[in-house]
Amino acid sequence: MRLGGESLRAGPALSLVPRHPGDAAEMFALIDAHRDDLREWLTWVDATRSVADVRRYAQFARAQFEAMASFDYAVVLDGDQVGAVGLHGFDWSSRHAEMGYWLAPPARGRGVMTQVAATLTTHAFERLGLHRLEIHCVVENQRSRSVAQRLNYAFEGIRREAYALHGEFRDLAVYSMLASDWKTAPVR
Ligand SMILES: CC(C)(COP(=O)(O)OP(=O)(O)OC[C@H]1O[C@@H](n2cnc3c(N)ncnc32)[C@H](O)[C@@H]1OP(=O)(O)O)[C@@H](O)C(=O)NCCC(=O)NCCS
Repeated sequence: MRLGGESLRAGPALSLVPRHPGDAAEMFALIDAHRDDLREWLTWVDATRSVADVRRYAQFARAQFEAMASFDYAVVLDGDQVGAVGLHGFDWSSRHAEMGYWLAPPARGRGVMTQVAATLTTHAFERLGLHRLEIHCVVENQRSRSVAQRLNYAFEGIRREAYALHGEFRDLAVYSMLASDWKTAPVR
């Protein structure tokens, strides 16, 4: 059975669309317009120098989707790509994965990522059958931590110097959600 290949609706004008090579030009323009902001917390921005780089990643993401090894989506608001979200680091024997996300600055401050992350959390538990999801944030990345906190992910602690960001090892705050927690108290 192939799971997860369809777009997910997160609101009337908000959806998660599986990454596709045909969307690479628009996605590159978005990243390029906001690279100074995005690179503060995201390691891959400096290595994303051209449409071809984004197309290559989208091709990889499609293969990963097929293999159920990771699930990458563009966040589409009012018909425009405004960011991305994904599930990575799968351990299917423990039915566990991690969620990562970013939004371009103009799309922030409106609850978009909270809605998107809630939709992907529901999809992960109800459609993919996961047991546990994690969100990892650099400790100082309060906006990212706030997304996990608004969704009632449990704070589990700090992984010391677990993330190399621009040559510096940074501490990660780890949040988790269990399928049973989400079923009892989903944030929609
Ligand atoms: C992390 C990131 C996606 C969070 O974006 P965000 O806009 O703060 O998050 P949301 O889209 O959920 O919006 C929440 C904001 O909208 C406000 N808001 C308005 N309406 C809202 C609603 N209906 N529901 C929730 N929040 C709402 C909230 O008050 C909050 O604003 P505040 O922080 O000023 O109080 C963004 O900061 C980002 O892309 N950062 C760079 C990349 C990054 O750090 N990624 C994470 C790596 S771990």
